[in-house]
Amino acid sequence: MKKNAAVIQTDIEKGTINKNIYGQFAEHLGRGIYEGIWVGKDSKIPHVNGVRKDVLEALKRLQIPVLRWPGGCFADEYHWANGVGDRKSMLNTHWGGTIESNKFGTHEFMMLCDMLECEPYICGNVGSGTVQEMSEWVEYMTFEGGTPMSDWRKQNGREDPWKLTYFGVGNENWGCGGNMHPEYYADLYRRFQTYVRNYSGNEIYKIAGGANVDDFKWTEVLMSKAANLMDGLSLHYYTIPGDFWKGKGSATEFTEDEWFITMKKADYMDELIRKHSTIMDRYDPDERVGLIIDEWGTWFDPEPGTNPGFLYQQNTIRDALVAASHFHIFHKHCSRVQMANIAQAVNVLQAMILTDGENMLLTPTYHVFEMFKVHQDASLLATDVTAAEYEWKGERMPQINISASKNKKGAINITICNIDHQNKADAEIKLRGLENINESSGVILHAEHMNAHNTFDKPDSIKPEAFDRFTIEDCRLKVKLPPMSIVLITVGA
Ligand code: AHR
Repeated sequence: MKKNAAVIQTDIEKGTINKNIYGQFAEHLGRGIYEGIWVGKDSKIPHVNGVRKDVLEALKRLQIPVLRWPGGCFADEYHWANGVGDRKSMLNTHWGGTIESNKFGTHEFMMLCDMLECEPYICGNVGSGTVQEMSEWVEYMTFEGGTPMSDWRKQNGREDPWKLTYFGVGNENWGCGGNMHPEYYADLYRRFQTYVRNYSGNEIYKIAGGANVDDFKWTEVLMSKAANLMDGLSLHYYTIPGDFWKGKGSATEFTEDEWFITMKKADYMDELIRKHSTIMDRYDPDERVGLIIDEWGTWFDPEPGTNPGFLYQQNTIRDALVAASHFHIFHKHCSRVQMANIAQAVNVLQAMILTDGENMLLTPTYHVFEMFKVHQDASLLATDVTAAEYEWKGERMPQINISASKNKKGAINITICNIDHQNKADAEIKLRGLENINESSGVILHAEHMNAHNTFDKPDSIKPEAFDRFTIEDCRLKVKLPPMSIVLITVGA
C-alpha cells in the first residue's frame, strides 16, 4: 500500500501563481447582486454608498484580485446604457424572470471594485448586442473626455475615466450567449474585439468566450482563427455530482457515494486543463494566451423552498475540499491558467457568503479562499507527491493533494487536502533545499460530519482553527490530517 509522501524542492521555482486565480464572479442572478452586495442608499442594512457593509468587509479580507461582472448568461442580454444615468428596468429572462431595476450598473460596479481594491473584469454583450454598443461602453468607461460617451459619463458623476483591465467578448456563446457554432463565434469575436479599443493609456486584456467542459473543437477553432487577437480564452466547468438536467444532488443531504463522485468530478478539472492546454500549445507555444477559467465550482440543486432560478445553495466541507483541490490544480498549470473566477461571490452557487435579510454567514469555501490567499503571486515550488489511495466501492483516487509556494519574504506555504471522508491521512513531506527551519505554524479547516455546514443560527460551525498535529525534524515535516480536512502549514526559513 502506498503511503502519503512528498518532496518539496524549496529552491526550485516553477513559475508564479497568478493572483487572479483567486478571482470572483458576481452576476445579476437571484440575490447575488441585490441584497447580497447592493442594498441601496436607503437601506436599513448598514452600507457604504449602497454596498452592504458586512459583505464588503468580509470580501475585503479575501484580497480579491479581480471581479467578473455582469454575467454569465446575463451579460449577453445586458444593455449597459440602461444601467447609467436614468435607469431603465428590464426582464432578467435567464434567472427567474425577475424585473432587473438596473440600479446597480457600471458606476456602482466600478465603485465596488475600488472599495475591494480589485481589478474589474467586464463581460460584454455579443449575443443580443451590437458592435456599436460594445465599443461605446468601452469609450464610456475609458475615454478621457470630449466624446459623446465620455461626456455622458462625466454628466453621470464620474469625471475621470476608469481603469478597465479585463474585458470578455461575450459569454457561453455556444449556449445562452447566442447558440453559435465555433466558426461563427470566432468571426464575431474578431469583429467585436476590433472595437474594444485602448483609450487614454488604458490597456485592455481581451478574453474570448471559450469552451464548455470538453468541447475541444471550440478551443481548436478559436485558437486557429483568432489566437493572435486575444489575450485570454475562457473555459467553463462546474462540479456536478448528479445530472445537470435530471437532478444535480443536494448541497447538504448527500450520501457517501455522492461525496466520492464529487471529488472525482472536481479532479476532472486537471484533465480538462491539460487537454485544452495541449490544443492551445499548438497555436501558442509561448503560452502568451491565458486559459481563463472564469466559471467553476459546485452546482447542486437549489435549496428547497427557494426560487429555482436563483441558484441559491448551501455549502459544506465538501465544497471547501472542491475549492482547495481546484486551487492545487490551477497552481500546477500556472503557466497557462492566468485567471479563474469561482461562481459566484454571494448567494449564488458555490458562494463565499450567504445572506438572509440583514444576516450574513461565511461558508467553508470562504475560509478556503482566506487560507489560500498566501499563495497569491507567490512562486510555485516543485513538488513530487505520492499519495495513498482513497478507495470507495472499488474506485480509487489519490487521498491527498498538495501545493507549496514561496512568498517574497522567503516563507513557504504548504496546503494539503485530505479528501477522504472516512480515513485520516498521515503524510511525510521532505523540504529539500532548506538548511534549517526557524518557525512554523498551522491552520486547519475540517468538519466531523460530511454534511456539516454553517447556518444563520450557527454561523461558525466550520471555521479555520490553529493546527499543531505536525512535527518538523531535519527538514522533514510529518503531518496528521483528519478525514475531510484542509491544512495550511507555514514554514519560515
Ligand atoms: O453561473 C451561473 C451560469 O452558469 C452563468 O450565468 C452561465 O455562464 C453558466 O452557464
